[in-house]
Amino acid sequence: MFPAVDPIPLPAPVWLFRVLHVTTLALHFLSLHLLVGGLLMASIWTLMARGGRNAPMRDAAGAVANRLPIIMTFVINLGVPPLLFTQVLYGRALYTSSVLIGAWWIAVIGLLMAAYTLLYVANARSTRGKGWGWIGLVALLLIFKIAFIYSSNMTLMLRPEVWPAMYQDNPSGVQFNSGDPTVMPRLIFMLAGSLAVGGVGMMFLGLKKFLAAETTLFLRRWGARLAAIGIVAQAGAGFWVMSTQPEAVREGLAASSVYSGCLIAWGATAVLLLGVGVVAQLKASAPGWLMPSVAGLLAFVNVAAMTLFRDGIREVTLGLHGFDVWDRAVATNWIVVGVFLVLFVAGLGVIFWLGSVVARAKGVEERYA
Ligand code: HEM
Repeated sequence: MFPAVDPIPLPAPVWLFRVLHVTTLALHFLSLHLLVGGLLMASIWTLMARGGRNAPMRDAAGAVANRLPIIMTFVINLGVPPLLFTQVLYGRALYTSSVLIGAWWIAVIGLLMAAYTLLYVANARSTRGKGWGWIGLVALLLIFKIAFIYSSNMTLMLRPEVWPAMYQDNPSGVQFNSGDPTVMPRLIFMLAGSLAVGGVGMMFLGLKKFLAAETTLFLRRWGARLAAIGIVAQAGAGFWVMSTQPEAVREGLAASSVYSGCLIAWGATAVLLLGVGVVAQLKASAPGWLMPSVAGLLAFVNVAAMTLFRDGIREVTLGLHGFDVWDRAVATNWIVVGVFLVLFVAGLGVIFWLGSVVARAKGVEERYA
């Protein structure tokens, strides 16, 4: 059912590829959530505050829009490593599904460039005090389309039983993973998480000294509110995700202590994030690092647990079709692995250093209203 395995052995152990895959993918998801949550709320706010109706709302929208092109670079650059690791581990399934939806899969590049351009246009217009809400919403639609293509591919790769019929039906790559009840809940789950993580990002932005005081108060209050609302919405979508999984997949996940642990970690951090969101909303008038930092830590663990659990759905589902991700010939080249790990850690260190420099920068006063 699956194409033959590549005869060249893996250059590093499977567990190492999986650790790197889940780590980098969790960072991709965090950036994606910041992008989608920020763009959605900022576009709505700037439309609602048209005509100088609500200066802090318009100003907050501009402050968020100003950060979106940078966040997009993180979405893209943190998407590449997990794509490489996934191809190494699950290439036989992922290449097949990518060919089946090939035209859409390639279209991601064009959609991404168009969305990215619109983010720059929106930011430039907002800096000049011009309207940009509809531009933001068009960019968001393009981003939703990309998300849908990703969810289609990541679920189609789990359905080898439909591949031959799909290819016979239409080999030109213009199909989606239709008829699979797991696609929509999965997509909605990812998008709902964007409200929560986007909210946490706004809690941090609400600490900026060079934004007007009313704007930062608005960001802190709405950030906390969104963190609480978003995580509840995501929990609802999570139940939907689980209810659409086949019984055998749910049993396989429950039988694994790792994946059961992920589910517990996700639930515990979700409840805590809800609590922090509610408290931070009530205390929004008193700025401080404590609430955003706790919320940020909870959001990170929450997304990491979800990412590992999501990988569990794939491992169990493919396992039921006879695909064992652990069953690969390995000839580890430890020198290459060592050099890679040193560069990987150094790269992450540089990113954190860059982030801390940006956070400590004096900056200039920002005004978008
Ligand atoms: C705005 C642009 C993007 C959006 C909206 C987006 C959205 C998504 C979504 C929704 C998923 C989860 C799909 C699911 O499992 O249901 C996902 C997974 C993923 N994305 Fe992105 N993505 C974007 C850009 C990228 C880019 C540029 C790359 C790499 C070049 C990338 C690499 C990945 C990988 C590797 C996965 C998961 C693979 C796995 O399951 O192992 N993404 N993305």
